[in-house]
Amino acid sequence: MDVRDRPIGVFDSGIGGLTVAAAIKRAVPLEHIVYFGDLLHLPYGSKSSRAVLDFTRAAVQFLLSRSVKLVVIACNTATSIAKEQIEAEIDIPVVGVINPGAQAACNLTRSAKIGVIGTERTISSNAYRDAIHTLRPEISVYQKATPLLVPLIEEGWQSHPVMNLVLSEYLKVFEVDGVDAVVLGCTHYPLIKSEVQDILHGVTVVDSADTTAQAIVEILREEHIQREPASKSAESEGYYKIYLTDYTDVFKSMGERILNMAIDDVNIITLNWTEGKINYHIPQ
Ligand code: DGL
Repeated sequence: MDVRDRPIGVFDSGIGGLTVAAAIKRAVPLEHIVYFGDLLHLPYGSKSSRAVLDFTRAAVQFLLSRSVKLVVIACNTATSIAKEQIEAEIDIPVVGVINPGAQAACNLTRSAKIGVIGTERTISSNAYRDAIHTLRPEISVYQKATPLLVPLIEEGWQSHPVMNLVLSEYLKVFEVDGVDAVVLGCTHYPLIKSEVQDILHGVTVVDSADTTAQAIVEILREEHIQREPASKSAESEGYYKIYLTDYTDVFKSMGERILNMAIDDVNIITLNWTEGKINYHIPQ
């Protein structure tokens, strides 16, 4: 098969990576997307680095078995722990969500003070701080782990008064520091972008889903692997194929909202252990 017609593989710990998949679709609608959501092991944000690396490796192996041309690690936690290692282990391009968000925030800040929110594992890895300092060492980075946000979002409480209360408490730290750009360093947070924005007046809120999609557009172009329309008159849209290690009602309801389409066709994959490694396969 022509490499350009092969799908883009998008991996996340569960549902949140669909925000990245949706942003990719908006940016390059012709591309096919194979989505892998590891709901069985969700949440990654509170797991050890070793577990996150093992899960990510296994997920990427599964995506490779689906002949993807590019791997997108759409999970901030998995990117912060595993991206470098994965990049060294496979020979197709790997895109994470940390560098695009860090780059966008560096371009936007005037005060040279950037805030980052994310899961406990992402924040404790200092991946955003390191990515920002690689680009602009003089920038001060203020990081805040915000572990209550994922469960509240998955409960559907984006606009609930409790969300406002929790966000006000978490985001206080950035008001004091005079931060002028805040990175939403977790797949779920684009869903509360306006709620964050309402609290952080005058601060630019950076959405890592859109910035990652832009980075993917550039890589597809640089590598000459973007999918072309079959003919000028017939622009066939790319497909979505969804593979999950578990399937829940929350995935369906939240997923349909994020993708803005019905999710009817989901493939559940099973796992076995071989020589201490996880292997995923499609049940026959
Ligand atoms: N996908 C994760 C992230 O972006 C959030 C959910 C989880 O903790 O697994 O960090």
